[in-house]
Amino acid sequence: MSNQNIAFGIDIGGSGIKGALVDLRTGEFASERIRIPTPHPSTPDAVAATCQELIEHFDLPDDMPIGITFPAPVVRDTVLFMANLDPSWTGVNVNQLMWKRLGRKVHATNDADAAGYAEVLYGAAKEVSGTVIVTTLGTGIGSAIIFDGTLLPNTELGHLEIDGKDAESRASAAQRENRGWSFKQWAKRLQRYYSHVEMLFSPDLFVVGGGISKKHQKYLPLLELSTPIVPAKLRNTAGIVGVAALAARHQTGELPN
Ligand code: BGC
Repeated sequence: MSNQNIAFGIDIGGSGIKGALVDLRTGEFASERIRIPTPHPSTPDAVAATCQELIEHFDLPDDMPIGITFPAPVVRDTVLFMANLDPSWTGVNVNQLMWKRLGRKVHATNDADAAGYAEVLYGAAKEVSGTVIVTTLGTGIGSAIIFDGTLLPNTELGHLEIDGKDAESRASAAQRENRGWSFKQWAKRLQRYYSHVEMLFSPDLFVVGGGISKKHQKYLPLLELSTPIVPAKLRNTAGIVGVAALAARHQTGELPN
């Protein structure tokens, strides 16, 4: 199956760990997507064992690039802090962990950065120049800032402090669900959030991802911003696609045409 146009992506989320082969020419899945529930507690060893299960399921060739997303900032392969998985991830070097468990190298990236990169390569931000901010609305709020196609990693705009509170604790999709807000009520929180981000960065485009972007018609039209705001195109495949592309780029130094 070794093929330089194919890479493997794993997306680690709070409820599921998902993996699929990605065709890098199109940004589409080249296999079915397998989902395994996230272990509880979601410690590094337990999560690494789940990644191993996924990789064994697909019987990947040794030279296939493997990318893994984390819902956390990842700097030089190390998780800086973990808001929505087991806190014992803090300080873990993901490459070393996976090397011990899998005996192979992986490329680790923040989940929103991966999703943002996928939207730039294949989705709603393709060929958009200037500053694009991709936000993912889920358990937390993830962010990716891309300027003229170049990603500025680990921006963590979900943890902006707004009105004295951590932004994602007021405006994430999980908060809407937990608190039983209508889309209209939630849109007020989103308005406050996006106006603030708009004021700070003057972006050219906002792209909104995460599972809830399926229902974008219920809340995006309620927002009043100077910046165009559009739903993500890749929806819930973006993390896997983006991290597979980043892993391939990391391994070969380029992306296939
Ligand atoms: C984390 C980010 C992540 C986002 C979405 C936040 O709590 O700090 O790193 O991108 O959630 O998962």
